[in-house]
Amino acid sequence: MPNSGFAKVAQADELSPGQMKMVEVGNEQVLLANVEGTIYACADICSHAYASLSEGDLTGTEVQCPLHGGSFDVTTGEPMSVPAEEKIKTYEVRISGKDVLLGPAKE
Ligand code: FES
Repeated sequence: MPNSGFAKVAQADELSPGQMKMVEVGNEQVLLANVEGTIYACADICSHAYASLSEGDLTGTEVQCPLHGGSFDVTTGEPMSVPAEEKIKTYEVRISGKDVLLGPAKE
């Protein structure tokens, strides 16, 4: 199978540009974010404390945490504003037909 290591986690049409969705993969919560038609995946749980980033706001590539307002770049996982200081994981994403496939964490 060409997408070995990748698993379907959503349908591409569930996420319009600018929208986010949390999916559970094993025991991890992963955030899917549609940035201008491209879907990115990163950890859903903020690295500052315990909050679900999918309940925050997405502006461009920046997701703002709903709890204390820290933010991250969903394409790299890098923190963009305090109190978020620690990078969050990002994951490989592939689109196969209408399916969103999630792969391994990057790095
Ligand atoms: S829990 Fe996300 S910024 Fe504090």
